[in-house]
Amino acid sequence: MNIIMLGVPGAGKGTISKELHEKYNLPHISTGDIFRENIKNNTELGKLAKSYIDTGKLVPDDVTINIVVDRLKREDCKDGFILDGFPRNIIQADGLKKALSANNKKIDVVILVDGDVDKIIKRLSGRRVCEKCGTPYHIETLRPKVDGVCDTCGGKIIQRKDDSEEVILDRINVYNEQTKPLIDYYKKDNLLKSVDGLAKIEDVVKQVEDITGLR
Ligand code: AP5
Ligand code: MG
Repeated sequence: MNIIMLGVPGAGKGTISKELHEKYNLPHISTGDIFRENIKNNTELGKLAKSYIDTGKLVPDDVTINIVVDRLKREDCKDGFILDGFPRNIIQADGLKKALSANNKKIDVVILVDGDVDKIIKRLSGRRVCEKCGTPYHIETLRPKVDGVCDTCGGKIIQRKDDSEEVILDRINVYNEQTKPLIDYYKKDNLLKSVDGLAKIEDVVKQVEDITGLR
C-alpha cells in the first residue's frame, strides 16, 4: 500500500508513520528526517536545507522531488511505502504523480491527520526528538523509559531547533499557503481520508488501519 500522510506541523504524521512502520514494515520516508540527517552529517544537501528549515521555509522543489523519487526506487519500496511530509505543494504532488506513473505505480490513499490547529501547536512546543534516529517524544504524553535517552536507539533526546514559537508560526503559514491546497487536490482524485490527530495514538493508528485495511 502506497500512503501519503498529510497534515499541519505537529499533527502527528511522524508519530503515526513510525507506528505503522513498526507494525507493517512499510518504509517510513520523511523528507524532514532526511534533511535533518544530512544537516547532522554536514553534507552539501544538509548545508542547503539548513537555511530553509531553520526559518520554516520549504527546501526547493527540484531538490526535494529528486530525493524522494530516488528513495522510492529502492527495493524496500516495492510493496508499499509511507510518505511523511511529502508532497508539500502542488508542484511536488505533480512531480510525484508523474514519477510513480512512469513506473506503473500510484498513491492508494492520502491520510489527512486533522484536528484543531491551536491544540496541535500547543502540543508541538512539548515535542522532543531523538537526535540520532528522529523518534518523536512528548514531555507529557510520550516520555522515554529513561529520561533524555531514546528507547529505540539510545540516542540523546533534544528539542528541534524549528520548534521555537516563532518558527512554528512560520511553518503554519507555509502550510496554509502551500500545503493546504493539497487537500482539494487529493479530494479530486478521490484519495483523501481524514483521521483525528488529537485522539490517542493507538486510536489514530486504528483509524488508519480501518481506512487502509492494514491488519
Ligand atoms: P517536517 O519534519 O516534515 O516537519 P513538519 O511538517 O513541520 O511536521 P512535524 O514533524 O513538526 O510534525 P508531525 O506531524 O510529524 O508531528 P509529530 O508526529 O512529530 O519538516 C521540517 C522542515 O523540513 C520543513 O519546515 C521544511 O523546511 C523541510 N521540509 C520537509 N519536507 C519538505 C518538503 N516536502 N518540501 C520542502 N521542504 C520540506 O507529533 C508532534 C508531537 O505531538 C510529538 O511530541 C508527538 O509525541 C505528539 N503526538 C503526536 N500524535 C499524538 C497523539 N495522537 N496524542 C498525543 N500526542 C501526540
Ligand atoms: Mg514529523
